Amino acid sequence: MPSRGCSCWLLSLALLCSLAAAKEQYHEFVIRETTVKRLCKSHNIMTVNGQFPGPTLEINEGDSLIINLINRGRYNMTLHWHGVRQMRTGWSDGPEYVTQCPVRPGQSYRYRFTVAAQEGTLWWHAHSSWLRATVYGALLIRPRDGTSYPFDVQPTRELAPILLDPSLLINLNSGAKLKHAHAAYAKLMLKACSMLNIPQS
Ligand SMILES: *[C@@H]1O[C@H](CO)[C@@H](O)[C@H](O)[C@H]1NC(C)=O
Repeated sequence: MPSRGCSCWLLSLALLCSLAAAKEQYHEFVIRETTVKRLCKSHNIMTVNGQFPGPTLEINEGDSLIINLINRGRYNMTLHWHGVRQMRTGWSDGPEYVTQCPVRPGQSYRYRFTVAAQEGTLWWHAHSSWLRATVYGALLIRPRDGTSYPFDVQPTRELAPILLDPSLLINLNSGAKLKHAHAAYAKLMLKACSMLNIPQS
């Protein structure tokens, strides 16, 4: 009996350790032309995996990401992980002709990096030509399992990140429509603020 209790204890310890351990996530980001409908109009745009905005990445501090960029689009492409400190992984940073050559159509490139010592809501986006207008998404970095946010008041709830969809503003050349889009966006922000109890000035 005592040996059984001991192995149970060891098992739970191992489980606890594995829960807190850094993880590795692998994602395929397939760039392709996709038809999306916005404001009753269809647009052919570049997307990741056919999604616009692109996929949300959710990790814990200390985790590693491996993103396999597969370019099935018509344009050169690179991806930048905005705000991520690339510690000794500069070749995964993304700006074309700065840390890498662009990934040509039909080619692929593997970004591999560890997100360490930072938490919060960041984003990723294309870093080649104007393609960031549609190729982007959120990157959520939560504290490591078992640790809390580095401020006294802990969040009571989470909201999905709000990414301003540029197609709302592109193609809206009439002043009235633009004003309408701005008003709708302001309303959305106010709603988010009241849900989060952020004072509105
Ligand atoms: C695409 O990238 C390659 C290098 O990877 C470069 O030689 C070529 O000129 C680029 N094409 C365009 C249209 O920018």
